[in-house]
Amino acid sequence: MVSQVHLGHIFHVAGRPNVQEAADALVSVPDGALVVGRDGRIAYCGGRDELPAEFRGAEPTDHRPGFLLPGFVDAHIHFPQTFAGDAYGGGQLLEWLTRCIYPSESQLADPVYAQRAAVAFCTRRIAVGTTAAMVFGSAFPHAQDALFGETRRRGLRMVSGRGIQTTGEDAVAPLITSEDEAIRLAKSEIDTWHAVDTGDVDTALLHVAIVPRFALAVTSETLRNLGELYDSVRDRGVYFHSHLNENNRPGTGEVDSTKQAYQVDSYLDTYDGKFLPGSQVGGKSLLGKRSIFAHGVHCQEAELRRLAQTGSSIAHCPVSQQFLGSGTMPWKRTIAAGVTVAAGTDYGGGDEWSIPRVLAAAFKVHISEPGEDGVSMHPAEMLFTGTLAGARALDMESRFGNFDLGKEADFLVVDPTGTPALEDTLAQGIRSDDPVLARDQMLFALLMGMSESTIAQVYVRGRRIDDH
Ligand code: GUN
Ligand code: ZN
Repeated sequence: MVSQVHLGHIFHVAGRPNVQEAADALVSVPDGALVVGRDGRIAYCGGRDELPAEFRGAEPTDHRPGFLLPGFVDAHIHFPQTFAGDAYGGGQLLEWLTRCIYPSESQLADPVYAQRAAVAFCTRRIAVGTTAAMVFGSAFPHAQDALFGETRRRGLRMVSGRGIQTTGEDAVAPLITSEDEAIRLAKSEIDTWHAVDTGDVDTALLHVAIVPRFALAVTSETLRNLGELYDSVRDRGVYFHSHLNENNRPGTGEVDSTKQAYQVDSYLDTYDGKFLPGSQVGGKSLLGKRSIFAHGVHCQEAELRRLAQTGSSIAHCPVSQQFLGSGTMPWKRTIAAGVTVAAGTDYGGGDEWSIPRVLAAAFKVHISEPGEDGVSMHPAEMLFTGTLAGARALDMESRFGNFDLGKEADFLVVDPTGTPALEDTLAQGIRSDDPVLARDQMLFALLMGMSESTIAQVYVRGRRIDDH
């Protein structure tokens, strides 16, 4: 691969800020050039006028008046729900799981169906510009093989693990395994797929996670065994992923049901080795800087502190929280605790594949939080949450997430002409005389108005990804 020079309006959040510092770290280069070296890394990001002489010989690819953005990171999405979007369950989370999701995920027992789902899943990811993702996997090993195989063929980044379930109602029976089988299959997936593409966890595009569906889907024995297993593979860079504090309908919701089932003080305790009655220690913790918990809508202060202390992250999924009536994650309180908050679609709990649609939902729900809790998210915070925070949640911030020199070039060509309403908004909308506010207004309009049709090209590590 020779050096590539891409021209367009660059937006990214530079350096290693936290979300509160994102506005100061926002970089906007209206007449920008992004240079990708032969090694697939960012060799230059700046003004076209200041393009270093060494890159002037290369024929540039001119995307103007398009934009160049870092690839989006989806920190929580369900592969076996590829065909389960907009499913009507006549209730909230637990009814929807029983009536729609367990039967739907059971379809992947058929290898042909599973392969079709893997192809469709990757196609959708590419269409919406999701270059990296934490993917909640199928219970069926052949379906996970199809997913990893197809993801590798397309050249996408992914962390995924088979959804582990060792107990549950009749509807979920096809997804349940014995205790021994659950551990055997998790180990086997790690050995087969973790960093398989390069053989080195620090350069791989593919990684494996240990993924119990949620505490209610497993037993104390499973949690103890997973703690042992995770402890033995942490130093290989294996991930952990699950759901946490998503739905608190009083009495019968997920949060109360979990606390009742385990007799623990907090939901997080079940993943933190404290899954015995009274939150007594029964095994090793599953928390850490490679652990991502989806939702975290109803966390106690102590749970947020513990997530922050262990470097664990939250995948914030406001589209799903609206779809399933799960409530609103308190934005100010959660980020004040110092937890990394990335964005997740939670598809098919969410009915959008696109991370910008999730960021737009985040803006709307957080401005609507009551009283002092309400906040008008800065567009740089939105961009940060959908890109750099995702890379940080995946513990790969040093590799991608923005256009800092030397990072692997995961980026999108965003073409507003693909979306006429957005094109009009950008061209005709009024902008402040203050150049900083005008910049922020443009980024906001772009993120709010962007959709699948706006994503023109997708690159991972400098390589253009085909959408077929
Ligand atoms: N909790 C347990 N399983 C699921 C799932 O599939 N989706 C969501 N949103 N929450 C869950
Ligand atoms: Zn989910």
